[in-house]
Amino acid sequence: MTFDQFMQHYKQEIENCMKQAIIATESDQKLEQSMMYSLEAGGKRIRPLLVLATLIAFDCEPKLGYRTAAAMEMIHTYSLIHDDLPAMDNDDFRRGKLTNHKVYGEATAILAGDALLTKAFELIVSDTKLSTPVRVNLIQLFAKSAGASGMVGGQQADILGENQTLSLADLESIHRRKTGALLSASVLSGAIIAEASDADRLALEKFAHHIGIAFQICDDILDVIGDAEKMGKKTGADADLQKSTYPALLSLEGAKQALAEHTNSAKKALHTMNIDASLLLGLTDLIAVRDF
Ligand code: IPE
Ligand code: IPE
Ligand code: MG
Ligand code: MG
Ligand code: MG
Repeated sequence: MTFDQFMQHYKQEIENCMKQAIIATESDQKLEQSMMYSLEAGGKRIRPLLVLATLIAFDCEPKLGYRTAAAMEMIHTYSLIHDDLPAMDNDDFRRGKLTNHKVYGEATAILAGDALLTKAFELIVSDTKLSTPVRVNLIQLFAKSAGASGMVGGQQADILGENQTLSLADLESIHRRKTGALLSASVLSGAIIAEASDADRLALEKFAHHIGIAFQICDDILDVIGDAEKMGKKTGADADLQKSTYPALLSLEGAKQALAEHTNSAKKALHTMNIDASLLLGLTDLIAVRDF
């Protein structure tokens, strides 16, 4: 299977899985529409594809990871809906469409985010294709990565850091949590399902750490020099909110250099492992190797 075939085929499987999960849920019609609106708005689906690429690297059946992958994309989508709210980044466009609260109102947008987060855990816990210990490990990983010690904690630090000049160490800590945590959990959930060895998990943790930081550095660079139309969200948002970012702290060139270093370290970690890492390498390039 080529990389393009992998992307196309599994993107579709993940999207079907998410849709079925929402349709099968008895819920208020407006809430369901609001959840589907953001899920169906598109998005690169990098996190769920990382789950499946990790499974394939260990020669494990990708179907085993569909619900976990869908659950991860739901948590990510919830994080975006809340990130765009007026009380947070106050953005009007996401994935090329109006943000969720612009269409459904703030109350419903908050609730749609809450419902996507909780649905993710329901999807994993009811996944009878996985053993009970595997499900418990996945739930623990997702809870820790999405919560106060992961994404939510990073978002809080990001908000508190507005209008301040942070140290590079503080900024890296924010990036590791607000963005890196869910990307790491995507890779590590694949390792849990594939029952990878402790040594392989350690190498994957290293890989995931570096792609997590690289991902947000790239996002910060694109916020300065990216094409808003192509990205489906506005640029210049970080400067407007006086956020500390890699380009703000290190200049554009310094940020590109840091991106290249994290990308190399990520690839190095993969090369220490005895797996077929071709899809993971392809996703790394997609995340971090840009023609800026
Ligand atoms: C955007 O994530 C938010 C960050 C964590 C930087 P993505 O760039 O993965 O957004 P989608 O899912 O493709 O819309
Ligand atoms: C968002 O970071 C991280 C999460 C949603 C957890 P940003 O605020 O930089 O993401 P964009 O640029 O709005 O997509
Ligand atoms: Mg933000
Ligand atoms: Mg934002
Ligand atoms: Mg951004």
